Amino acid sequence: MTQWGGRFNEKPNKEAFDFNESFSFDKRLYKEDIEGSIAHATMLGEKKIITIKEANLIIKNLKKIQKDISTSKIKLEKYIGKYEDIHSFIEAELIKRIGDTGKKLHTARSRNDQVALDMKLFIRRKIFRTAVNLMGLIRGINYIIANNNDTYVPGFTHMQKAQPTTISAHYDTFRVMFLRDIRRLFDCKDRMNECPLGAGAFNGTGFNIDREYVSELLLFEKPTENYQDSVSDRDFVLEFLFDLTLIQLHLSRIAEEIIIWNSNDYSYIRIKDEYQTGSSMMPQKKNPDIAELIRGKSGRVFGALSSLCITMKALPFAYNKDMQEDKELTFDAIDTTNDCIRMMNKMLRTIEFNKDRMKQALLDGFVNATDLADYFVKKGVPFRKAHEIVGKIILECEKRKCTLEDFPLEEYKKYVKNVNKGLYKEIQIENCIKKRKKKNVTRTK
Ligand code: ARG
Repeated sequence: MTQWGGRFNEKPNKEAFDFNESFSFDKRLYKEDIEGSIAHATMLGEKKIITIKEANLIIKNLKKIQKDISTSKIKLEKYIGKYEDIHSFIEAELIKRIGDTGKKLHTARSRNDQVALDMKLFIRRKIFRTAVNLMGLIRGINYIIANNNDTYVPGFTHMQKAQPTTISAHYDTFRVMFLRDIRRLFDCKDRMNECPLGAGAFNGTGFNIDREYVSELLLFEKPTENYQDSVSDRDFVLEFLFDLTLIQLHLSRIAEEIIIWNSNDYSYIRIKDEYQTGSSMMPQKKNPDIAELIRGKSGRVFGALSSLCITMKALPFAYNKDMQEDKELTFDAIDTTNDCIRMMNKMLRTIEFNKDRMKQALLDGFVNATDLADYFVKKGVPFRKAHEIVGKIILECEKRKCTLEDFPLEEYKKYVKNVNKGLYKEIQIENCIKKRKKKNVTRTK
């Protein structure tokens, strides 16, 4: 069933109809669609474009339809193949219930402004949902931070051991990263905080509508400024997809680290059995599938962003059906990212840190070399020179197969005359960490 039969002599071709339809996926927007229609009908009544009685009848029945769908009295799946999209379905259902009055709902409205509104309402809700999930993840990370102040681990650059740090300091990176993601989501929400309803097909309407009122009812800051832009704009969808892309990118970096740290050779951490899987052939295996999937699923989310960019590229103004492609991409990206956030949170909370193994890892790799150079600086050697001297000492240590801690004081004196026993305290791993920790976080009032 379509909304536009009048001008047509032929019924739509069944295959073309199925190709064209979006009901099978945009049925997910039923709440937003009804919410928008209720605000629209309220305004039509207030402005006497329809009577208050008609508006009330429409609103009452829209609410009933919403309830019937959410309680599964109406099963939306049953109507796949019968309706073009969620907008036409809700309208048809309303007309079925209240006849000609239902036919008045679409006065001064187009599906173009309607669908832009539905997507804004939907994304707004999902921004809150995603932020709440991220807060949950940050809580899990905070737990790790609070309990691992004395869990030492090498920090890496270029995947080479660089300097000693703690798990707390390392995981604090993730906390800050996700907090930034939350802020970014709310920036997106603020920018899309304008109500497109009233833009009609692209050119507004001759009816004396009240856009401010509708905008207020739907808790937007104000109506959109330009009609044509209101129905052509999918920037807010793209921006949201970019925010999800970054979240997923951040998750993938942590997932990768978990995979590496959980590997046989690293063994810095152990993922709980519940979050690993076995092999069908090799009995000894435990595989970090969950972390790998979080890493892998980032491809889908990045793909959604680039797909929609390509769909929107060079698209003429105003609305074109191409834009219907935004739905499945967005729905999939939202579901994927939120699943990944939740799984990461669950898995992280069970991870065990192998403190001994990480401490052991700090014994080779000369992770205290920078501290040795800094010590020489304190003894009056210019830093660039100190850097060179430490490089030479490391070459010497490699020959002798010893660490900087084992290198004898008399030998050190050959490079820098005025060093003393204090050198060994300066380069002690624990000291290297503690020295920095004090300065790592500078709180300003
Ligand atoms: N299903 C359509 C979409 O998602 C709704 C808007 C249809 N508008 C139109 N002029 N055909 O974009």
